[in-house]
Amino acid sequence: MPLVNLFGSKGRLVLSALLFCAVIFELAHCQKEAQEQRTTPGRKPKSSKPKLGKSTNKGPRAVTAKPKIKATSAQTFLTQVFKKGKFKKVGETISVQTGDTLELRCRGKPVQWSVPTYLEEDDDGRLRTVQHERYGVLTLVNTTGADTGEYSCYPMYCEDTDCRKEYDKAVKVFVFFPDPQELFVPSSDYYEAIQLRTNWPTLLPCQVTSPEAKVTLHREFPLVEVAVDGTEISFNVKRGFTIHRPRPYHAGALYCVASLGNLRQSSTKYMLIYVNYPMAPPAPVIQASSGSLTVGGDLRVSCSVVGEQDVLVEFNWEYPGQRIGRPLNTQESITPVGGGAARQQSQSVLLVEEVRDVDQGTYTCTAHNLLGDKSVSTTVTVVPKAKPKKP
Ligand SMILES: *[C@@H]1O[C@H](CO)[C@@H](O)[C@H](O)[C@H]1NC(C)=O
Repeated sequence: MPLVNLFGSKGRLVLSALLFCAVIFELAHCQKEAQEQRTTPGRKPKSSKPKLGKSTNKGPRAVTAKPKIKATSAQTFLTQVFKKGKFKKVGETISVQTGDTLELRCRGKPVQWSVPTYLEEDDDGRLRTVQHERYGVLTLVNTTGADTGEYSCYPMYCEDTDCRKEYDKAVKVFVFFPDPQELFVPSSDYYEAIQLRTNWPTLLPCQVTSPEAKVTLHREFPLVEVAVDGTEISFNVKRGFTIHRPRPYHAGALYCVASLGNLRQSSTKYMLIYVNYPMAPPAPVIQASSGSLTVGGDLRVSCSVVGEQDVLVEFNWEYPGQRIGRPLNTQESITPVGGGAARQQSQSVLLVEEVRDVDQGTYTCTAHNLLGDKSVSTTVTVVPKAKPKKP
């Protein structure tokens, strides 16, 4: 789920920078800025919610693999261990009362665990993993609502000291820690900026601590409850709200409200910003006014891209005259394209006046949009002027 990465703690900084870029259309410059921001240490969320998709390279908490051990090929499964030595095989979700201890046992030798990112980052000694001969055990004590999230176990396949996760055998359980005071997994941010991209699902990650909480979606201006029909917008108790096909009217300040018993609480605010996003990298078409022209003639090389309306396309040129310092002379234009869907043609025309021998060669146009680049080339031959015929 690459999209979810956008909501990682560090990703958010990058995202806000990118959003800013989309507004001022200085992408190359802004993307650089976003890169720089990524390296700036941000405020560390103290009790933030488990972030889905993280951007650190720190691996999940690992149980050091024992060398020369091969994982059993038996099916992996996860059991919850209760007091008095009771066991229960877990389903897709479980609820553990806050303050209680979560103990999970996973068959495999060895196994690796992955836990909500916030637990990985804030090592406060509450989480422990131990590898026994046939199984691994994860123990989390003094639990709070903030520990709500996905816990997974990966059996490891080892050859000598080389171990790798057996992803296809991973077992996951989503653990809720219903908190009588906090219906939402706490977040350190007062608000979160989220990009609404054309035709890409957008997640509002308001995560509840109890699967019993009733969650609704609200808009701030004007103050209304947003209809959640399950098609355009849907709710998943393990993820939050998803806007499946974002449109400009979805933009604005939204927040979730959870109710359980007498408690009613609001989530972090989500600032949804609509960005016209292309469906694909550009597909430029290049055409020279002539493939062969005489010295002194004028050359026009056009490069055009047909794409979604209001999606910015940038052009870059490489041409033989660059070697001798011929300045870049281009004319750029955008014209609507007829037909059903809202499409436009972006075009850059390279003009070479009074061509010389040095203008002969390959002309390359590179078109760029938010999803990528594509280059196309054409070659042009320059022929000497025909000598006037002697009588
Ligand atoms: C869990 O909470 C108890 C009581 O507050 C405390 O004594 C203990 O140190 C805590 N354990 C950990 C590992 O934080």
